[in-house]
Amino acid sequence: MSQNDNSLAINGGRPVSKKVIPIHKPYLDKDDSEAVRKAVESTFLSGDGPACKEFEKGLATYLGVKHAYFTTSCTVALDLAFRIKNFPRDSEVIIPDFTYTSTALGPLLNNLRVRLADVDSENGNIDVNKLENLITEKTVAIVPVDYAGNPADMDKINQIAKRYNLYVVHDTAQSMGSSYKGKKTGTLADVSTFSFHGTKNLTTGEGGAIVTDDDELAKKIIIMREKGTNKHSFLTDNISRGYYEYMDIGNSYVQFNILGALGVAQLAKIERMNAERAKIANFYIQELSDIAAIKMPKISAKANTNWHIFYILVPAGQKYWILDALRAEGVYSNVHYTPLHRNKFYSHLGTDENFKGAMKFFGGLLRLPIYPSLNETERTCVTTAVRKVLGYSI
Ligand SMILES: Cc1ncc(COP(=O)(O)O)c(C=O)c1O
Repeated sequence: MSQNDNSLAINGGRPVSKKVIPIHKPYLDKDDSEAVRKAVESTFLSGDGPACKEFEKGLATYLGVKHAYFTTSCTVALDLAFRIKNFPRDSEVIIPDFTYTSTALGPLLNNLRVRLADVDSENGNIDVNKLENLITEKTVAIVPVDYAGNPADMDKINQIAKRYNLYVVHDTAQSMGSSYKGKKTGTLADVSTFSFHGTKNLTTGEGGAIVTDDDELAKKIIIMREKGTNKHSFLTDNISRGYYEYMDIGNSYVQFNILGALGVAQLAKIERMNAERAKIANFYIQELSDIAAIKMPKISAKANTNWHIFYILVPAGQKYWILDALRAEGVYSNVHYTPLHRNKFYSHLGTDENFKGAMKFFGGLLRLPIYPSLNETERTCVTTAVRKVLGYSI
C-alpha cells in the first residue's frame, strides 16, 4: 500500500464511485408506508396503543421471550433495566470499555458506578478472561454488548454472573436477529435491551425494547415505563373504572402508536433484511480475504451475526489515511466507537494501558457500508476501493 500513489482519488486520481456510497441507509418499503398511513388514519396516536402491543407480541414471538416492551430508545431501556432493580447507591456495574455511552448511562442514571472491562482485540466484545478480576464486593451487574451484531460470549458471562450472584443486562442494541448457540439474542440474560434507531437493522427511527423472561421484572417494567403508574393494567384489564394509581418514581418511556405500526412492518421482513446483509458480508469477505494487511471480522464461536456492522481491521497507525482515501474514492468509511476511557467524561476510569484490547481493536477499526439496499454495483465499488487503496489488484 502506498499513500502517495497518484491513481488514488485522494491524490488527484479518478474515484471508484462518483456518487458517495453512505455507510448505512434504513430499508423502508411500501409496506412500511402503508402501515404508517393506516396508523395515522386510525387517530390513535399516543403511547402503548394497539399497534405497539401488536409489535411487542410479534417481538416476543420472534425472539422466543416471554415479555417484550417497546420503548422510546435503547438508552431508556438500559435506564429501565436498572431502575427496576433499586441497587444500593454506588454499587458497581461492569461494562465493556468499547461501547456507546448509553451502556454506561443505564447504571449512571441510577446512581451506580461503572467499571470498564477490556475487550477482545479482534471483535470488540467484552474479554471474558479479564472479567473476574474486576468483580468486587460492590459489584451487582454485568452489561455485555454485542458489537456489530456479533453476540458476546454469553455462556461464560452467565457462568461468572451465577458464581457471584450478578444481574446480567445484555445490551443487544445492535444484534436484532443474531443468535448464540441456537438461541436468539434477547433470550440470553436477565434482561436485554434492543435499539431501533435509524441506523439499526430493524428501525422505527428512534426506538428500543426491553425484553425478559422474568415475570416479576416485567411487572416492574410496565409500571416504571409509564411514569410509575399502573395505567397499563387500567388499559388492558378494564376493571378499574377509569382509575389508576401513581405508584413509584418512573418516567415516560412508552413509544407512540405510529412507530408501533412501523415496527410491525419492519419485523415482518427482518429475516429478509438480515439475509441481504449476510450476502454483502460474505461478498466482502470473499473479495478482500487475500489482502494480508487486513483482518476480517471475528465471529464468536457457535454464533450467527446479523451483520449490523461490517468492519475491517487495518494495521495500527494507518487507519486515518485509509479512511480519508476510501472517502475520496466515494466509499464512506467510519470509525466508531471511541473507547469510553478515551472520552473526557470517562477518562478517570482508566488509561490506554488498562485497555490494551480495546485500543488495539479501535486502532485498526474501519467500518464499510452495509445495508440491504446496497446494490451489486455499489458492493463492487466498496471492495474495489478497498483493494485500490491498499495496493491490491482490482
Ligand atoms: C451498544 C449500544 N447501546 C445502546 C445504544 C443506544 O441506542 P439508542 O439510540 O436506541 O438509545 C447504542 C446505539 O447505537 C449502542 O450501540
